[in-house]
Amino acid sequence: MEKQPLYEGKAKKIYATDNADELLVYYKDDATAFNGIKRGTILNKGVLNNKISAFFFELLGKHGIKHHYIRTISDREMLVKTLKILPVEVVVRNIAAGSLAKRIGWEEGKKLPTTVLEFYYKNDELGDPLINDYHIKALGLATEDQVKTMAETALKINDILGAYLKEKNLELIDFKLEFGLHKGELLLGDEISPDTCRFWDSRTGEKLDKDRFRRDLGNVEEAYKEVLYRLTGEVFAD
Ligand code: C5P
Repeated sequence: MEKQPLYEGKAKKIYATDNADELLVYYKDDATAFNGIKRGTILNKGVLNNKISAFFFELLGKHGIKHHYIRTISDREMLVKTLKILPVEVVVRNIAAGSLAKRIGWEEGKKLPTTVLEFYYKNDELGDPLINDYHIKALGLATEDQVKTMAETALKINDILGAYLKEKNLELIDFKLEFGLHKGELLLGDEISPDTCRFWDSRTGEKLDKDRFRRDLGNVEEAYKEVLYRLTGEVFAD
């Protein structure tokens, strides 16, 4: 397959393929936090997130969620449908943590009485500010229909992932999704991994996600390996 680099992001590289409808996503070990201020590397993260994301996309597909994942190509590469990504990040939260805990002054770990859905404007220069559906409309970031579909889909994904993870003794604290258009159809894109979700061990409360990197908690690679193991039973060997 001919590989034409199209775009390099913080955690992934995107290549064109000889089919304009399909792209190759390459998962890197690079890790950033706080809008790129903190930078580092998590050994094998690219391989682990490629596997974890593929697993989640397949799981969601079985439940009727339309997504961009086609198939895994190699350790670090997956083939996806070409998307025009909407500049809106959709965050779903079950338990107060991270920026929400800070914003509303709640202790991290406190269960939210209802699921909280948030939109952020995907804009590095502005630091991805929190926005609502009126801002999305005013800025022309997505149509009303698209906002409705993103919100409904995100809440459905929360139910599917939350139930699956609970069986594996993982608590789904919160997660971020991105959506894009493929031939006019809105599909789930980007990745679903410990980079983009918070997973806590249901029994011990141990953090098994990128917060270990963000907060210098140590054992970052081990946490990602543990998530892969809990999800798929695969013991990752370096
Ligand atoms: O930092 P915050 O608490 O707002 O993050 C909420 C969720 O969204 C977390 O699971 C985090 O990993 C994810 N997120 C992300 N990419 C961002 C911001 C947040 O994947 N740019």
